[in-house]
Amino acid sequence: MTPSSECKMNDQASRVKAASRAALTVIVACVLLMGLGCQQKMAEQPYYRPYEPTTFFADGQSSRPLEEGVVHRAQYLDSDPLVTGLTAEEWGRFWRRDEVKVNPEGPTANEDREHAYGAPRFDPRADQPHSNPAKIYVSEFPFPITGADLSRGAQRYTAYCAECHGPLGNGKGKIWERGYLKPTSYHTEKVEANEPNAYGQIPLGYSRGFWKWDIHIPVREVPIGYIFEVITKGYGAMPDHAAQIPPVDRWRIIAYVRTLQFSQHAEAGKLPRNILEKVTAGDHK
Ligand code: HEC
Repeated sequence: MTPSSECKMNDQASRVKAASRAALTVIVACVLLMGLGCQQKMAEQPYYRPYEPTTFFADGQSSRPLEEGVVHRAQYLDSDPLVTGLTAEEWGRFWRRDEVKVNPEGPTANEDREHAYGAPRFDPRADQPHSNPAKIYVSEFPFPITGADLSRGAQRYTAYCAECHGPLGNGKGKIWERGYLKPTSYHTEKVEANEPNAYGQIPLGYSRGFWKWDIHIPVREVPIGYIFEVITKGYGAMPDHAAQIPPVDRWRIIAYVRTLQFSQHAEAGKLPRNILEKVTAGDHK
């Protein structure tokens, strides 16, 4: 290569470089300008920030109240037994409770029963329409329970109840081992030999809530709607679980509680034949 041709090439190369630098500058400038243009359009969105006033509505508020009767997707109606556990009759009475005259000196225990913390809404006055637990709480599951529901119930029970009530439901969970109040057993028979026969005056496995109203029934016989209410609102030392467990899972847990109860108190006639044969032969395993 001669020195002059080398010089020519250098010249060419620097011209190409200068041209591409100029092109790059133009592109960058365009992009910046475009960006500015976009920013202006996007900043002018037709929406209101929360609580921003408006002249569009007569009351000057841009945040609108819900129209009457609006139901959001997958919302349950307030009166649906699936979210109340109550019979239609009890729901109606509860809904009208403000019309019920309350003693001006302060409500009596009976008048204030639904405000009592997680207590059964039972009224022991025989002339009252809600003096029968079966009229207050539903006794049927609000949807058919399948095998899958039961498995889910078992899994949720283990997550949310077993730590206190124990895996078998006799009230001997880990939390109780560390000194928590002994939860009500779901069974009237001892699952483990060292269980106490009673909680104070209340025999093993009897509902403490109903005992307060002088109704002596084991948890095995309380209407399932009552268990729903205990899970939803808590009872006595037991905390409520409304925030942790959606209503449908509460019913699945209850189905599992009933299964646990059946496991300790099965009527021979209700057992499948192959299991009955094993039991009669003394093979319980
Ligand atoms: C932090 C411990 C704890 C957890 C968790 C817990 N419980 Fe309880 N539960 C208790 C205690 C304690 C009692 C007895 C309360 C009392 O006597 O004051 C009780 C009572 C009950 C009763 C009987 C009420 C009566 O009338 O005697 C039922 C039914 C029940 N629990 C169901 C459940 C279910 C179902 C779950 C899970 C969703 C659950 N509990 C989770 C501690 C717990």
